Amino acid sequence: MAKKPSTLPWNLREPSTGIALYRWLYEELRSAILAGHLRSGARLPATRDLAAQYRLSRPTVVTAFEQLRAEGYVEGRVGSGTYVSKTLPDELLHAPRATARAKVRRRQVRLSGYARRLQLARAGTLAPTLEYRPARAFRANQPALDQFPTALWAQVAARRMRRVSTQLLAGGEALGYRPLREAVADYLNSSRGVKCAADQVVIISGVQQALDRAAHLLLDREDRVWMENPGYPGAVAAFRAVGATICPVAVDSEGLNLEAGKKLPKPRLVYVTPAHQFPLGVTMSLRRRLALLEWAGKTGTIIFEDDYDSEYRYSGRPIPALQGFDRSQSVIFAGSFTDVLFPALRLGYMVLPSGLVDIFAAAEAVSTHHPPLIDQATLCDFIREGHFARHVRRMRELYAERLSVLLKSAKEELAGLLEIPVIEAGLRTVGWLKQGTSAEQAAQRAAERCVEVVPLRRYAYGRIPREGVVLGFAAVDGRELKRGVEELARALGDAGSGRTNRGNSGLGEMSE
Ligand SMILES: Cc1ncc(COP(=O)(O)O)c(C=O)c1O
Repeated sequence: MAKKPSTLPWNLREPSTGIALYRWLYEELRSAILAGHLRSGARLPATRDLAAQYRLSRPTVVTAFEQLRAEGYVEGRVGSGTYVSKTLPDELLHAPRATARAKVRRRQVRLSGYARRLQLARAGTLAPTLEYRPARAFRANQPALDQFPTALWAQVAARRMRRVSTQLLAGGEALGYRPLREAVADYLNSSRGVKCAADQVVIISGVQQALDRAAHLLLDREDRVWMENPGYPGAVAAFRAVGATICPVAVDSEGLNLEAGKKLPKPRLVYVTPAHQFPLGVTMSLRRRLALLEWAGKTGTIIFEDDYDSEYRYSGRPIPALQGFDRSQSVIFAGSFTDVLFPALRLGYMVLPSGLVDIFAAAEAVSTHHPPLIDQATLCDFIREGHFARHVRRMRELYAERLSVLLKSAKEELAGLLEIPVIEAGLRTVGWLKQGTSAEQAAQRAAERCVEVVPLRRYAYGRIPREGVVLGFAAVDGRELKRGVEELARALGDAGSGRTNRGNSGLGEMSE
């Protein structure tokens, strides 16, 4: 390929707020290529030059280039020159007639009220990461995937498939594979303090689906939902999409502050994460649990107990699930195998008050029928043969070790910059920033150093009392955690000194 000038023929626009810098650069370059500012065969500037020109870190530029290369917009290798591709993916994907048709179609489709609300609800939440990027410090939404015993899972799955019956191949009950429902009921009764029979257990595609189902089946437009503040954005999106009104309720050291909630209008449903509050990590006290249940029983309010992440407890006394104390059929309990095993499995469970089982089964029957049955049967074997319990035990030890690496290096490197509270459970923690540090800037500076932290305000409604960031400690090993801490210390130094200001929060705007 003939060498062409390697400077950009125009200036990049300023990054907009809340967008990672690599993403901004990728989008600017992609738009320039599609608009013809950068023609086929044109050479992109060297990553080092571009980084210097726009005051970016080199890894930020390299990541943007890699993304463009992966999608076919550019060719060549870092180091030997990067060129705009001869044939662009958009040209391949959209022949002119198809583009015209697609435009017409897009204009004609009228979305339902639900779809329009869903668009708004999604705009206010964190988008799930669809593209896979290798794990790095401090990825918060991922377990240690490299530690999953895939060979063992493959053995269990192969055995199950070799012996599969025609009955299993034909499909099954909407509520899920009966032996798995029994195994889940046994596990929850013995390990989570849940009191249930297998008949109350429904196998679903993760807690997110449980939230979506509960929202559709139990909420009407304008119904109020109390939401922990800060809280899990996926729950907010599901409730908002059905038109419910979100009422943020503060979280204190005992969990959702019931007394603060009682000052608000009565809700139809309360969403809580008592085992390990998302994202602050607080465990709801027994006293608060009992008070919440008593109040819910008296007022006829449904409690959605999200038990995500609760298998991993490192200290403190485990308190039985709210569901286990429920005498008034007020609690819907939901948990997941995605964080314990692997996210792609998309299997989880709900424990329902008996009176709700049929309507949830009906909803399943008119949508997915049931989650993939062979996967359910494989998971059931994995649990019954003791592999699940062993895996949880092994991972608990590993995560406890990773947590102690994080705490130790944070003590050495981040003193005065970031304060990590006591972590009793879960796979992530909040880190409180020293006064005057912007979490958004800290996150951006950290991203430039290939470190992921999420500003706490992205999970909060309106103002938050204190700036913080959320850090995961499960996905990567001790070495990467140490690197993360060192880089974060530098990033916080930069953010504290206000080196540059490239925008702020995206999800503080979750507020009503
Ligand atoms: C608190 C909480 N609830 C629910 C979910 C979604 O769980 P699942 O993957 O089982 O749908 C998550 C995922 O991060 C979560 O953090």
